[in-house]
Amino acid sequence: MTEAMSTYRAAIVGLAEISTEVPTAAPEPVLGTVVAHSHVAAYASVPGVELVAVCDLVPALLDGFRERWGDIFPNATGYTDYRRMLAEQRIDLLSVVTPDNRHAEIVIDGVAAGVQGILCEKPIATTLADADRMIAACKTARVPLLINHTRRWYPAFGEARRLLRSGELGGLRRVVATLGGERAMLFRNGTHLIDAVCWFVEGDPAWLIAELDDGHRDHGPRYAGDGGRDPASDPGGSAYIHFENGMRAFVNASKGTLKTFEIELICEGGRLRVGADVAEWTKPFPDGGLGTSQLNVPQTTWSDTGAAIRELIGLVERGGTPSSSGEDGRRALSILLGILQSSAAGSARVDFPVVDQ
Ligand SMILES: NC(=O)c1ccc[n+]([C@@H]2O[C@H](COP(=O)([O-])OP(=O)(O)OC[C@H]3O[C@@H](n4cnc5c(N)ncnc54)[C@H](O)[C@@H]3O)[C@@H](O)[C@H]2O)c1
Repeated sequence: MTEAMSTYRAAIVGLAEISTEVPTAAPEPVLGTVVAHSHVAAYASVPGVELVAVCDLVPALLDGFRERWGDIFPNATGYTDYRRMLAEQRIDLLSVVTPDNRHAEIVIDGVAAGVQGILCEKPIATTLADADRMIAACKTARVPLLINHTRRWYPAFGEARRLLRSGELGGLRRVVATLGGERAMLFRNGTHLIDAVCWFVEGDPAWLIAELDDGHRDHGPRYAGDGGRDPASDPGGSAYIHFENGMRAFVNASKGTLKTFEIELICEGGRLRVGADVAEWTKPFPDGGLGTSQLNVPQTTWSDTGAAIRELIGLVERGGTPSSSGEDGRRALSILLGILQSSAAGSARVDFPVVDQ
């Protein structure tokens, strides 16, 4: 007889679309039901999880949650004060889905209230000081912290990394990362791009130079944390990043360019391209010329935020190294801030570690 599955009590702070949107249907019904992108959809997709509380400053969003999800989670209590929610509810799993500059306090208060695992939205924070406080609080209390840089749970990205690490294409040497379209903002979606670059490079940045896009040249070295609500307040830009392990990355994240999210991994003996519209690898034929094949991407609905929640439960139960840790989130943030600092100093070279300015 198998042991009864534990039921985890989950809660979410911040109820905008990325929290509550309904999931998309799986491409092939035989694979399962849905691909869960939003946090509520993710909790609904994982067996043994009950969403017991949701919180937003805006009461209408609590009503919106009930309209969309009341039949799945009829017992979720609504709050407008997250501290009251933490005081009144025993919460195991906490999603922090507030604007970027409001992640830190909620994570730290959640740990103090005794939550067992946290999934925090990206970027981890708006300052390195906040990131450090979050990481330290979780580490001290041994609470796993996952940062929702979703590409780490995309099957195509996972397959690209597996192939890269297999050595079949030779060692990785250069990375070209491209983000375009009206949402090509550094802190909104550029953080996904930069984090994915670091995930493939498997190293820490040594130095960078950067130039923000036209219209953002006077942005300054700090990020206010508006979080992309207003694209005008979150700049795009270009950067050249040199990593400690010798890898070089060329990053372009610019509004006003073709809508795309793509990373090209240039190896000694081949090339990988993975992104929103591409998943392929290229190798020379033995007799010359180049041959390109599609990546063998696993067909699964365990992707995105649903996979993150499943991993969080595994970390709570068995420990281990998170595949998107607080330190990983801090690395991406330090590069984003380095880009602002370089551009603000006339595209000067910025050496790591960067510090808040
Ligand atoms: N993973 C992804 O693909 C993805 C997509 C979109 C947004 N995000 C991230 O999710 C986070 C939220 O983004 P958003 O655009 O929904 O932001 P938002 O500005 O709409 O804020 C989300 C909600 O948080 C609520 N809120 C703010 N402070 C609160 C507090 N102290 N207590 C309770 N509720 C509070 C707001 O009322 C709002 O409804 C950001 O960090 C963003 O970068 C991630």
